[in-house]
Amino acid sequence: MMSKVTVVGAGNVGATCANVLAFNEVADEVIMLDVKEGVSEGKAIDMMQTAQLLGFDSTLVGCTNDYEKTANSDVIVITSGIPRKPGMTREELIGVNAGIVKSVAQSALKYSPNAILVVISNPMDTMTYLALKSLGLPKNRIIGMGGALDSSRFKYYLSKAIGCNANEVEGMVIGGHGDTTMIPLARFATYKGLPVSGLLSAEKIEEVIKATMVGGATLTGLLGTSAWYAPGAAGAFVVEAILHNQMKMVPCSVALEGEYGQKDICCGVPVILGRNGIEKIIELPLNDDEKAKFEASAAAVRGTNAALKEVGAL
Ligand code: LAC
Repeated sequence: MMSKVTVVGAGNVGATCANVLAFNEVADEVIMLDVKEGVSEGKAIDMMQTAQLLGFDSTLVGCTNDYEKTANSDVIVITSGIPRKPGMTREELIGVNAGIVKSVAQSALKYSPNAILVVISNPMDTMTYLALKSLGLPKNRIIGMGGALDSSRFKYYLSKAIGCNANEVEGMVIGGHGDTTMIPLARFATYKGLPVSGLLSAEKIEEVIKATMVGGATLTGLLGTSAWYAPGAAGAFVVEAILHNQMKMVPCSVALEGEYGQKDICCGVPVILGRNGIEKIIELPLNDDEKAKFEASAAAVRGTNAALKEVGAL
C-alpha cells in the first residue's frame, strides 16, 4: 500500500517538514498545500530536483488550495497560520490561527476522513484542543507536535553542557509548548543511562532548563521569525513514528481524560506513537514539585484555550 502524507502550509516549517519526510522516505507521496499561488508547487519541484542528488525515491507534489489532491492521506500535518515575530508569545497568535487551523483541518479531513492529524500551528496545545473539540475525531488521531521539538532542544542544550553527542542523551519535556509552561524533566534525563544530575551542577541544569524553555524565543530573536528546521524535523519525526508504527515514546500534546489529574485539555505528556496515532499515554511517576509545575502549566494552557470562545472558534 502506498503511503501518503499531506502537509498543509508550505511556509518555512511546512516545507522543511515535507522535505525531511521525502528525504527520509517516510512516505511514498508527500503533498504540500498552501494558499499562496505557486509557492507549494515551486517548492515541491525544487525539492524533487534534489532527489537525484540526495538519492530519495519519495514523490513530492505541491498544490494551491486543491484539497482533492490530498485525498486518502494517512497523516495530515497542519502548519498553517502566522508565525510569531520577535517579542510575541505563541499565545498571541490565537485570533488569527484558530480560524485558519479549523478550516484547513475540516477541508483536509473531507478528503481523508481516516487520517491522523499532527498539529504544529501555534499556540500548539490550544490548536490541538481546537481540533479535538471541533472535528469529531477520536482522540487517538489528534496529536500536537510540541514536546518532540522541545525535547530535542532540551537534549541539544544538555549535550552542550555535558560536552557529549546529543544522540546519546535522553530527555523529555512535558507540559504546554510555551516559554513559561514547558517542563524539561531534568530528573529523568540521562547520558548513556547516567543521570545528568551526577554529571552537571544544579546551577548548570537550571541554565539548561531555562535555555530550553526559551529555545523558540531565542531563535525568533535571532531570525526575526519563528524557527523552522527543528520544528519541521520534529513534525516529520512524529509522522514517521506513526506511519512506520515505531511505538516510540514521544512527548506530544494529547487529550487528557484524567491522566496527570487533568481533563478537557490537550497538554504535553509522553505517549507511545504507532499506526493508530496515540497508542498509549505514559503516566510518569512525577514528584510533588513536578506535579505542581504540571498543574500550573495546564492552568496556563487552559487560560489560552478559553480565548477560543472569545474569538468565536469554539
Ligand atoms: C518554536 C515554535 C515553532 O518553538 O513554536 O520554534
